Amino acid sequence: MAKIADKYYISDPWNIIEQDFNPEYSQVSESIFSLGNEFMGVRGYFEEGYTGKSLIGNYFNGIYEASPIPPSGYKGIIDKTEFIVNAVDWLYLRIEVDGECVDLNQSHFKDFYRSLNLQTGMLNRSYTWILKDGRELRLEFERFVSMKNAHMAGQKISMTPLNFSGEIMVTAGLDFTQIHHMVGKNLWNITRTNDGDRWLSIQADTLTTNQSLYSSCYFEGNPEKEVGILEEKKVLKQLTFKLEEQKATILKRVVCNLSKNDNYEGDSDTFNVQCMEAERSLFQYTYEQIKEETTAWWEESWKGSDIAIDGDELNQQGIRYCIFQMHQTYHGAQKGSVIGAKGLTGEAYSGNTFWDTETYCLPFYIFHNLEAAKQLLQFRYLTLHEAKLRAKALDCKGAFYPIATISGRECCSLWQHASLQLQASTAVAYGIWHYAMITKDDDFVLETGLPILIEVSRMLATRGDWSEDQSSFGYYGVMGPDEFQMMVNNNCYTNYMGKFTLEYTLDVLDKLKQKKKTAYQEFLKSHDIEDEEIQKWSIIAKEMFIPYKEENKIFEQHEGYFKLPNIDIDKIPVEDFPLYHHWSYDRIYRNNMIKQPDVLMMMLLLNSSFTIEQVRNNYEYYEPRCIHESSLSPSVHSILAVQLKKHEEAYKFFEFATRMDLDNYNRNTCEGLHITSIAAAWMNIVYGFGGMRSDCDQLSFSPSIPKKWGGYSFRIHYQNDILQVSVDKEKAYFQSMHGTELNILVYGQVVVIKDQKIEVEILQEWRG
Ligand code: BGC
Repeated sequence: MAKIADKYYISDPWNIIEQDFNPEYSQVSESIFSLGNEFMGVRGYFEEGYTGKSLIGNYFNGIYEASPIPPSGYKGIIDKTEFIVNAVDWLYLRIEVDGECVDLNQSHFKDFYRSLNLQTGMLNRSYTWILKDGRELRLEFERFVSMKNAHMAGQKISMTPLNFSGEIMVTAGLDFTQIHHMVGKNLWNITRTNDGDRWLSIQADTLTTNQSLYSSCYFEGNPEKEVGILEEKKVLKQLTFKLEEQKATILKRVVCNLSKNDNYEGDSDTFNVQCMEAERSLFQYTYEQIKEETTAWWEESWKGSDIAIDGDELNQQGIRYCIFQMHQTYHGAQKGSVIGAKGLTGEAYSGNTFWDTETYCLPFYIFHNLEAAKQLLQFRYLTLHEAKLRAKALDCKGAFYPIATISGRECCSLWQHASLQLQASTAVAYGIWHYAMITKDDDFVLETGLPILIEVSRMLATRGDWSEDQSSFGYYGVMGPDEFQMMVNNNCYTNYMGKFTLEYTLDVLDKLKQKKKTAYQEFLKSHDIEDEEIQKWSIIAKEMFIPYKEENKIFEQHEGYFKLPNIDIDKIPVEDFPLYHHWSYDRIYRNNMIKQPDVLMMMLLLNSSFTIEQVRNNYEYYEPRCIHESSLSPSVHSILAVQLKKHEEAYKFFEFATRMDLDNYNRNTCEGLHITSIAAAWMNIVYGFGGMRSDCDQLSFSPSIPKKWGGYSFRIHYQNDILQVSVDKEKAYFQSMHGTELNILVYGQVVVIKDQKIEVEILQEWRG
């Protein structure tokens, strides 16, 4: 795998530390030091202004703009795309002493230090600014976004003159002038500004999508003078302070942001009233109070989700960073929120959510925050009508879920992905199934899950075809998860997951029929389903073609894959990566090279359906063909490698996931964080080394331990309790934190955990 670690941040178990600022790394650090709370995300830019390379990014979940795509004239090709739009800079600051402004791109400075405390959610930064005449001013910054009240955030600046006393002017405000970098222009219409004693507010609408954003703040501090300034798309306060040598002067600001997106329950008038109320009640909050609530939130959250590793500080830091980002990206705070492939940390992937959500991210929430997991699936229910429209556009019945979306509409401008990838739809079905397996929440399945399953099944029945001799059903002209094979027939993953979805739908219908006959009849009626349609799904599921060779137990990625020209991927020069940028687009499709797991992905998602021999043979066949161009890839290989007791290989793959962004492995962290890889890193430990499987009736574990580690532990929320799993070189320990009786399997044997810690010997073959 042509990926090299770029070690820049200081290793520490609970902090991400940058010492001595390197401008070459400015945008990577902006991504790394992003803060978010699902509702809003802010990159780690220097709020006091910086003329070097920077992406001042502020994103709000569900606030997007649209841009037209030149019409192609072909049916089913989208004509516009939607992207999360860069919004208000609510941290805006300028710091000026006697006409000289600080700017780390031009000013002299020393003792730079920045740290993100994962335990508290606080981002701190400090340096000493050396003015042109030699005067020195120590500046310290702190910022956070509230995890308790998603609309609130805080900023603190401490200013200490080291060798002088004098005046300083701080201009602080709310700035809507930022451009959206991907389109190179600003996309906001200001509708209202206001200012009063120590406070400011601004409101703006998106240009074309009828969405609004309101931002307000007030300042805690004692300036000598305060002047309000109104500039285009900006409201500011010029605050003058008298500084005393060696004495810290502090300015704090409390921020409240509100948004009106597609899921807002109310109209513009309701929103305006809400904003006015927010303005009136802004002073109720103090900086310290919101900070305290936030640190308490993190403290509580770590109690149930920490992963501790003994003997591997780098990966300890890496995995805690990943867990931190998972909580920041999503926790079920707001109806209709999505997990963008980059979360709220950058413009790449346009803030769109992918099939990644249900396959990679959902497990973390199922085992840490069930309400969030439910909300994620609710989003698909909320947008079912859009998926139905999309199915129509693609000449199918039912619902075809978009491969990339914010609003529920397809946003992927590459038609071959948008039209040929069925995996978003089957991933939604898989997500419902997975959630239901763990929660046994039948009401959710009936009310939210089943309507989705029916429509996806309808799509699956109409998108596929019977073979010429009518002997088997399959999907023709598709693209599976491996995006290096386009317009193929009978992609194994697609067919397998299609079959799985149809069978699960039939199963849910059957259970309903057995348990609540009247409700079943009513459901069929209200969804216009005839018995005949159900029978058809059953036949299709039964006759689904799964390309498979019994003699070597290898699934063929798609019909004809085994005969494709072979490429020795180890001979591809390292400078050719990423291949998308260095090989002509069609060239990557003309051989058997794989971008990311396809057959192996299916083997992970439904792991208990395959024998160990099948997993081994397929892993050994497909892994050498995979170039891991997607950050979704290494962890899946790592988890399966553990299952195959290929411990060293598993560890090698594992290292990429936990530190994908911290070590900038893909050289594109500057564009935003790889949220799916972050989710996969969590899976890599829990499903990989912990050997957890959640795709069968009983939760099971086959713990192993990498050679390098002295031990590790993780916690999952399960059956209203927290299950702590700790592993050392000799034993694995299972404990239910609140004493609930939990039945699990360990190495295939039933283990009942009650109020005692249970010890199980690590089998020799599982010791890395
Ligand atoms: C991967 C997709 C994924 C997308 C967003 C692509 O590079 O190939 O599978 O959905 O990134 O993470």
